[in-house]
Amino acid sequence: MQRLVYIETYGCQMNEHDSEQILRVLEGANYLETKEAQQADLILVNTCSVREKPEQKVYSALGRFKRLKEEKGTILGVTGCVAQQEGEKLLDRIPYLDMVVGTQAILLIPQMLKRVEVIGEKVCETGFDEKGTHLKTPLPSGSLPNVKSFVTIMQGCDHFCSYCIVPYVRGREKSRASAEILEEVKHLAERGVKEVCLLGQNVNGYGKGLEGEMSFPELLRAIDGIEGIERIRFTTSHPADLSLGLIRAFSELGKLCEHIHLPFQSGSNRILKAMHRGYTRESYLEKIDRLKEVCSSIAITADVMVGFPGEEENDFEETLDLMEKVRFDDLYSFKYSPRKGTKASRHEHQVEEKRKQERLALLQKIQKETTLQRNMAFLGRIEEVLVEGYSKQSRRDMGGRTRTNKTVNFKGDLTLLGRRIPVRITNAYAHSLRGERGSSDEKARAGGIERRSHDPIGTDLHEFSPSPPGET
Ligand code: SAH
Ligand code: SF4
Ligand code: F3S
Repeated sequence: MQRLVYIETYGCQMNEHDSEQILRVLEGANYLETKEAQQADLILVNTCSVREKPEQKVYSALGRFKRLKEEKGTILGVTGCVAQQEGEKLLDRIPYLDMVVGTQAILLIPQMLKRVEVIGEKVCETGFDEKGTHLKTPLPSGSLPNVKSFVTIMQGCDHFCSYCIVPYVRGREKSRASAEILEEVKHLAERGVKEVCLLGQNVNGYGKGLEGEMSFPELLRAIDGIEGIERIRFTTSHPADLSLGLIRAFSELGKLCEHIHLPFQSGSNRILKAMHRGYTRESYLEKIDRLKEVCSSIAITADVMVGFPGEEENDFEETLDLMEKVRFDDLYSFKYSPRKGTKASRHEHQVEEKRKQERLALLQKIQKETTLQRNMAFLGRIEEVLVEGYSKQSRRDMGGRTRTNKTVNFKGDLTLLGRRIPVRITNAYAHSLRGERGSSDEKARAGGIERRSHDPIGTDLHEFSPSPPGET
């Protein structure tokens, strides 16, 4: 019997990707996705515990679904990082909850569901899967291809930054075999995927502990050679693991997009040390310089945090100074949030909430200005845009991204889906650009954007026809 599943996702791209994988696993158990919680036979909340705020959202989401459970017996489950962290305790705390699925237990969901459905048991699976079998989840089978897709290449994190819960809820670093990754990317390319984003909490740490395996730059090179794939991205990188080989890849690999997300967290050496980040502000800035040298148009985004225990006004000023030097395209900024079990949460010099709030507000105000200025620099330029779908605002517009990962909306229709087209940028906003489809004359010039000397895609920006739906 066909059943319906509704899934609500919080947290980072790993969680977004996990939600996709959960839906695929559930397809095999006769569950189809619904976007309406009311219609669902099964509701899953895929959770994040990186800061207190996202963690609280889980409890309010479950509160909203309680009525559905009471009225129609909907099965309720929690997956993701809060599930991993709290385990059985969640079942005690929330009496109407049926399932708790840890971050490495996605493949077990169908068996767990049987136990809930048939025996009426409450179930919890939070073991770590040392062999990494769960990373090999079913490949997409749908006939309508997506333009872009995530590919997990490693999981977990060994950095143990003193504030961070991730190593505890995602486990130790484990890389997938390159042969398996390449097979997955080829499969995606055959199904019409044009862009892959390689995923990992510490993605540039790829290959550690795998004897005789490819390094991360070698893996990128191998993917660059896969026919049908036109753009490659990866996230999230750690500055300490950013090798010269990887920096060079930005000038050597034509499909590797000119964007890097490189969290710096703080501009103060004293705070970086207390965070156990393993780099200094000088070595971070040095790497940024190198990146800009090999690829002048590279877009740089990062994560930063204010109010880490012991952060003084002068530490915060160093953070602002680093921002001034780099001029990030965008920043994800957070107030430090103590996480149970982490070293920093036991630090005696916690920063007052009011200070954190003031610092965050100032930092965000400055960055907003920089982001807008960075976006305004695109005005009048012709950019290569990979068309991803309707724009978020209106079905009369299509939307896509530049190689530098800026969203561009423009007048167009679905026939453009999956095509790389030249778009002349006419308006710049804080979160997106607006443009007009370029003429064919402009196509040639689109390649002329000064990106780098060696530029196999840019110099010959060609349009291609999307494969009709269903054709692979
Ligand atoms: N693996 C990635 C990101 C992990 S979590 C990395 O190392 O960069 C995403 C971001 O959340 C982090 O970069 C950090 O800025 C923020 N973060 C993590 N733990 C936090 C905490 N306890 N309080 C506030 N922000 C936190
Ligand atoms: Fe957390 Fe640090 Fe690992 Fe990133 S590198 S996931 S911030 S421990
Ligand atoms: Fe959150 Fe887990 Fe990602 S804690 S940031 S969903 S790895």
